[in-house]
Amino acid sequence: MKTVLTNDPVEAAEFIKRGGVVAFPTETVYGLGANLFNENAIANIFKLKKRPANNPLITHVSSVDQIGELVADIPLRAEKFIEAFFPGPLTIVLYRSGKVPSIATAGLDTIGIRMPRLKLANEFLSACQVPVVAPSANISGRPSPTKWQAVSEDMFDKVDCILQGDQTEIGLESTVVDCTGDVPLLLRQGAISIDELRRVVGNTQVYKHVKGDVARSPGLLHRHYAPRASVHIVRNASQVTGAEDAAFIGLKSFGLPFKRERILSSADGYAQAVFEFFRDCDRRTIKTIYCEPVPETGIGAALMDRLRRASER
Ligand code: TXA
Ligand code: MG
Repeated sequence: MKTVLTNDPVEAAEFIKRGGVVAFPTETVYGLGANLFNENAIANIFKLKKRPANNPLITHVSSVDQIGELVADIPLRAEKFIEAFFPGPLTIVLYRSGKVPSIATAGLDTIGIRMPRLKLANEFLSACQVPVVAPSANISGRPSPTKWQAVSEDMFDKVDCILQGDQTEIGLESTVVDCTGDVPLLLRQGAISIDELRRVVGNTQVYKHVKGDVARSPGLLHRHYAPRASVHIVRNASQVTGAEDAAFIGLKSFGLPFKRERILSSADGYAQAVFEFFRDCDRRTIKTIYCEPVPETGIGAALMDRLRRASER
């Protein structure tokens, strides 16, 4: 298949209407989109990404009005999150309606819903005129793409169209909060922190997966976000061996002769850069990446979550 590259959201939306798969930017990472009501198109997403069938997809909307038909009901706690954070980097999980095809939610009776705030994403989703399911536009297990070129690396000639936007602003996937119970549960850390969620719904908790427990968010069980290189989280130069053949990313230089080094001036900059840095190291066949840890406040909690997952083998 020939992949069409465009920066026109209306042209990209035409492919969704015809049952195709379109990669598009959001403020978090690039997504791989299909019409929520087209089961064949959704099946293609699972195939293209090599995604396990038990990992549900997030449904993207262009307006809050689209949520009603997708869910059984909207409890007050969810209304508060929507009011505070939509559009933005938050996914809320609610009980789904009968209209949602079960392939989209991997057979779960719940649905994850998000309304991106990036203007180009909103223009694209509006033009699609249907809700759009979209996982991150990477092959499963690889770092999520934050540039259209990274999407192209994984998906060229596999998807119908890539909507070309800028490098994504946040660089890490959305915060996921399960609102099906009285106590909202933070399933995945993202740019919206637990403190921000609690300011809106005070009893929100961080979900801790217990071994043997049925997975609330199956995606959390899969190995994620990892480059081919091995990733190590290190606090200082004494924990590093063989800097000449390795790469480093962090907030301050260790003063070692790394083959490649990226120093960011803030945790936000680090979060935005980290997945692309991982991919860049892979392109250069660097085998070892050292990452400096950051304090786990604000975006730091999400960044440390991704670094830890990338470092697990
Ligand atoms: O920022 C993002 O969320 C990006 C952009 C494209 O929107 N999308 C994204 O999708 O990261 P994906 O498929 O890579 O990750 C979706 C996460 C997975 O951990 C999945 O298990 C969880 O959301 N999820 C989706 N639906 C769910 C549901 N009904 N219940 C629990 N978890 C759900
Ligand atoms: Mg993903």
